Amino acid sequence: MSSKNWVDISNFLGLKKGEMMDFDYGNEKIMIMNINGTFYASDRICTHAFVDLTGGVLNESKKTVTCPLHHSSFDMKNGDALNLPAEEPLKVYNIKKEKNKLFILI
Ligand code: FES
Repeated sequence: MSSKNWVDISNFLGLKKGEMMDFDYGNEKIMIMNINGTFYASDRICTHAFVDLTGGVLNESKKTVTCPLHHSSFDMKNGDALNLPAEEPLKVYNIKKEKNKLFILI
């Protein structure tokens, strides 16, 4: 049985627009992104092969991250893989900002 918790990640509030950074929590390999001032979070290992997506390209206007190896793009709103070779979606996480704190639901 597993229950989710809101985890304080306020240390990522300094992330600038267009930046993404890795965040490990237990066995979860996550990345936190600032897209036009809104924070997003997803798994950071590409669903096609074991590649870290923080080495890829974040597109703020499309809200996508493109894998550095075979260039599949993922929609950061829902994790969908938008083009081959990746077919499986990335897991995305809820994030909330409260006062001066940032939390992720894990
Ligand atoms: S490893 Fe990411 S698209 Fe192939």
